[in-house]
Amino acid sequence: MRKTAPAKINLTLDILGRRPDGYHEIATTMHQVDLTDAVEVHSRASGIVVQHDQPGLSSGEDNLAYRAARLLRDQAGLSRGLLIRLEKHIPLAAGLAGGSADAAAVLQGINQLCALRMEEAELRDVAAQLGSDVPFCLTGGTAFCTGRGEIVQPLPDFAGPRLIFVLVTPDFLVPTASVFAAFRPEAVTSRPDEANFQRAFRQGDLMAVTAGMANVLESVSLRLWPEIGRLQQQLAELGALKAQMSGSGPTVFGVFADEVSAERAERVLKQDYRQVFRCHSYL
Ligand code: C5P
Repeated sequence: MRKTAPAKINLTLDILGRRPDGYHEIATTMHQVDLTDAVEVHSRASGIVVQHDQPGLSSGEDNLAYRAARLLRDQAGLSRGLLIRLEKHIPLAAGLAGGSADAAAVLQGINQLCALRMEEAELRDVAAQLGSDVPFCLTGGTAFCTGRGEIVQPLPDFAGPRLIFVLVTPDFLVPTASVFAAFRPEAVTSRPDEANFQRAFRQGDLMAVTAGMANVLESVSLRLWPEIGRLQQQLAELGALKAQMSGSGPTVFGVFADEVSAERAERVLKQDYRQVFRCHSYL
């Protein structure tokens, strides 16, 4: 059973408040792009084994794909073992939900491989226990996500031509929890205009889409890692209609109006950065 696990970017991200459970109430539009991992799920006699060739990524309890397999196996009362193979392309801890995408693919893969016939709502419950972004990764496409991020309201595909992005992931990891913990509403200078953003998205109006975009977590990450701000500036100078951080960072993406300017930006940025990805909406 082989599955494709696409990365996500946050086209909008707003924080509405802190919750009693320690999480933050968020409102975000997530969008899948065609930067993908491949996930294979195989049967084995016993136990759960995760294999990959990504340095710095655990194969045990700390790996979300492992936890997804264990949780679903327990929940479904499966006795057989599982082998999970990950072919990683999405950078780790980069604001692209790579781990969450793999976990969602593991859930879908096991559900099919073992003919569990779990309803989507049931899988979503399991997904939400694994992480705030995992339910979106199960649904895919573009969606407006609220609560911790786990309440997923799908949106139609962008009504204009396929969106073109250049993603740049600087070579440092950003721990999501510490960015959320350092968030102060009074430090926010730009919030997304979600209503106008969604209207423009449905109408296929690229200029209005980019005008409505913002990510309030930039108020934290740009202060802690000034390189993120410099990268945004560089993408804007290279012709991006909008350059924004994804999630809690450090990945920054530029939205481009045409393939030629995106290719040029990709070429220039590759001189300074190891992880540059020209990609598109995942359809
Ligand atoms: O849900 P997930 O495990 O991906 O979240 C990682 C961390 O990010 C959480 O432990 C929490 O500190 C923070 N977070 C938050 N509010 C959210 C989502 C994540 O504070 N809505």
